[in-house]
Amino acid sequence: MASEERRQLVRYLFLKLDPAWRRLDAGEQQTHKQQFGNAIKDFRARLLLRTYSLVGTRGDADLMFWQAAEDLETLQALETALFSTALGGYLDIAYSFLAMTRKSSYEFPDTPENQNVVQPADCSYLFVYPFVKTRTWYRLPFEERQEAMEEHVTIGRKYPGVRINTTFSFGLDDQEFMVAFEGDDPAEFLELVMELRSSKASAYTERDTPTFTCLQMSIWDALDSLGGAPASADEGEGHGDVRAPSHGQFTPVATVRDVEPGESKRVYLGSDAIALFNVGGEFHAVNDRCTHGRASLSEGTVHSNSETCVLECPWHGGKFDLANGTPLSGPVRVPIKTYQVKIAGGMILVRSVS
Ligand code: FES
Repeated sequence: MASEERRQLVRYLFLKLDPAWRRLDAGEQQTHKQQFGNAIKDFRARLLLRTYSLVGTRGDADLMFWQAAEDLETLQALETALFSTALGGYLDIAYSFLAMTRKSSYEFPDTPENQNVVQPADCSYLFVYPFVKTRTWYRLPFEERQEAMEEHVTIGRKYPGVRINTTFSFGLDDQEFMVAFEGDDPAEFLELVMELRSSKASAYTERDTPTFTCLQMSIWDALDSLGGAPASADEGEGHGDVRAPSHGQFTPVATVRDVEPGESKRVYLGSDAIALFNVGGEFHAVNDRCTHGRASLSEGTVHSNSETCVLECPWHGGKFDLANGTPLSGPVRVPIKTYQVKIAGGMILVRSVS
């Protein structure tokens, strides 16, 4: 049975940037972003990690990392790694919420069989809050609570664009639950929350604040949302010749040694973030942002054989033809922009095709 799958520890980590960081010089800001982003990337294989920005939605937090891991030690190791970076010296923990996956105590038709593993959808926004019920609620007969929760779920199903993720915090953290709704339309979520206010279960809410509206994006876009110099290519590694491109000109973006066969790298051409790939000695360059969501395609996987070269998006498995950007399968519908690449003097140069 799938529900036998091991439960996960879930953490919502909210970070606030010290504005003093914005007064550093551009080179330092770029290096800090690159180092911090790479620290995040190093943990991709160890836990589920979604990155969000709250710039423009909250005053007391700038970044949020939604994490789901098999053990507490992994969550701790990630935080230690992040705070060991130079940017970590400028980040405060604004909020931290710990929870765990668990099957719901109530029975509902059509609920996913496996509630022990966090399986995020592909939505643009995440609405998160800690949740505490009154003790009176727990003294109600189970049948009464089941009935109230059925009403709750029935209201929720009127808003199919909103998807709920509930995890349990009893004894692990101050709240009882962490509630996280995924959606693409803030207005739809607002209507849902307003309608839920009149439900019976809502009368037993003790606390459901603070509430966070988070925008999902790649770690690079999230870092750039903080302001400062963009998270450009590494400084001081021999490609100080990286400069703003002249229109239609080939522009150096990295050295050949920066991208070994089988590797990829995120670089910049002016304000365009570009994913560079070395596939068996042949270089490809495409726009770094997936046309489906905000995934960073430089973190994607390349599948190649003698005839095709396919780039798979790291978030939802959308596939593109790496040579011409055509969407091939999965949720992707819009082609990704491609760039011409040439090698000269040990440098990788790219130029916009159109
Ligand atoms: Fe969804 Fe790339 S972000 S397939």
